[in-house]
Amino acid sequence: MLRKLFVKTWGCQMNVYDSARMADVLAPLGYAQTARVEEADMVILNTCHIREKATEKVFSELGRLRAVKDARRRNGAGDTVIAVAGCVAQAEGEEILARAPYVDMVFGPQAYHDLPDMVARLARSRNAPIVNTEFPVEAKFDRLPEEASSQGVSAFLTIQEGCDKFCTFCVVPYTRGAEFSRPAAQVLAEARRLAAGGAREITLLGQNVNAYHGEAPDGGAWDLARLLYGLAEIDGITRLRYTTSHPSDMSDSLIAAHRDVPELMPFLHLPVQSGSDTVLAAMNRRHRADDYRRVVARLRAARPDIAVSSDFIVGFPGETDADFAATLRLVTEIGFAQAYSFKYSPRPGTPAAGHDAQVPDDVRATRLEALQQLLNAQQHAFNRQQEGRALPVLFDRKGKQPGQLQGRSPYMQAVNAAGPERLIGATVMVRIAAGHANSLAGTVVTDDHGSPKSHPAPSLAASAHSGTAA
Ligand code: SAH
Ligand code: SF4
Ligand code: F3S
Repeated sequence: MLRKLFVKTWGCQMNVYDSARMADVLAPLGYAQTARVEEADMVILNTCHIREKATEKVFSELGRLRAVKDARRRNGAGDTVIAVAGCVAQAEGEEILARAPYVDMVFGPQAYHDLPDMVARLARSRNAPIVNTEFPVEAKFDRLPEEASSQGVSAFLTIQEGCDKFCTFCVVPYTRGAEFSRPAAQVLAEARRLAAGGAREITLLGQNVNAYHGEAPDGGAWDLARLLYGLAEIDGITRLRYTTSHPSDMSDSLIAAHRDVPELMPFLHLPVQSGSDTVLAAMNRRHRADDYRRVVARLRAARPDIAVSSDFIVGFPGETDADFAATLRLVTEIGFAQAYSFKYSPRPGTPAAGHDAQVPDDVRATRLEALQQLLNAQQHAFNRQQEGRALPVLFDRKGKQPGQLQGRSPYMQAVNAAGPERLIGATVMVRIAAGHANSLAGTVVTDDHGSPKSHPAPSLAASAHSGTAA
């Protein structure tokens, strides 16, 4: 029987990847994806628990879904199975059922391979909701089917899950469980299938991706650097990226890979969170601000044009004006190409939430604004520095205007340029005419950039992204 599936995803790219895999698991059961929730026989909310706002969005969405479910039943369209997956499900399974008793299934990120079984159990016991928030560590990837659908030119591949770092503000170790790395052979096989399906760029995902240590094809273990060398050899793969990394896990071999693997793009998301050693220690980040400066310096020595981005939390409990000033100083010194910044959000069950020195919300808001002004100025300056340069752009989709294509620069900047659709999937030199706040615009220089494996690294000055602060 043909059935319709609607999936809504919040949170990090691992959730985006997981949503695609859930659709893969359900496809053999007859579920085809729809973009219209009103016609869905099953709705999956793939949720994020990282900040309070993210969690609240789930409950307001559930309120809307209840109305859809009732209307479908009234109109004789049949029942709507409502499933809550992801990190809120893992952390607050019971609370979801208490607050929204019309929810049929609640299951965490480690249970997606069990979906067919859960669906069958639900059909047998119509009124009893299914809850599945166990942590059967390695079962998930061994038991997920091969990907049913192509992800297109730019694909995600989860290689590592969970986290053992226990930063005092963070729910991830509780929602995703202990760190686990997929065996290298499994990763390589999935990458080959993605390439065969049209992927040219692969972004390796993990909450702590640079701590990767997967079983090697010949016994032993591979670190992330070794894995990157293996992936770079796959035909069709022209670009590799990985996210998210922890500063303490930037090993020598990984830094060397940034020098030696041309497919590895010169952009690294390396969250520092704060520039104050006191705050970093209270966060249990396991490094000081100077360690971060040193890692970035070594990366720049290995790959002079590497662009760096980060996450920041302002208003962590106990953060003083002087601590915050240290963050601004670090930002000014490093010069970020891009960044995400957040007000600290106390999360249930994490050590920092119980701290008595919570920073008042108005102070958090003022600090966030000041930090974002500085980061936005750096991003815009970095984008403007590309004006006049020719950058290799991998086009991955049609642009918003007719005749326009959209792609990414090596530095993750979105680039818009006019061009024929056949260039989607090709790496093409684009002369940048304008560096806007959030994207670049340019014109295609060469129609096709020859063998994508052999394109030269762009020659950008070592100072391309430093000293850009206002
Ligand atoms: N594994 C990544 C981060 C995962 S969460 C790392 O170690 O860097 C993504 C970002 O959300 C974090 O980098 C942090 O900046 C932010 N974040 C996490 N918990 C938060 C909280 N309780 N309040 C505000 N921001 C938070
Ligand atoms: Fe959370 Fe820290 Fe682990 Fe990142 S390293 S996922 S911030 S606990
Ligand atoms: Fe959110 Fe879970 Fe990712 S809490 S950030 S969806 S790992």
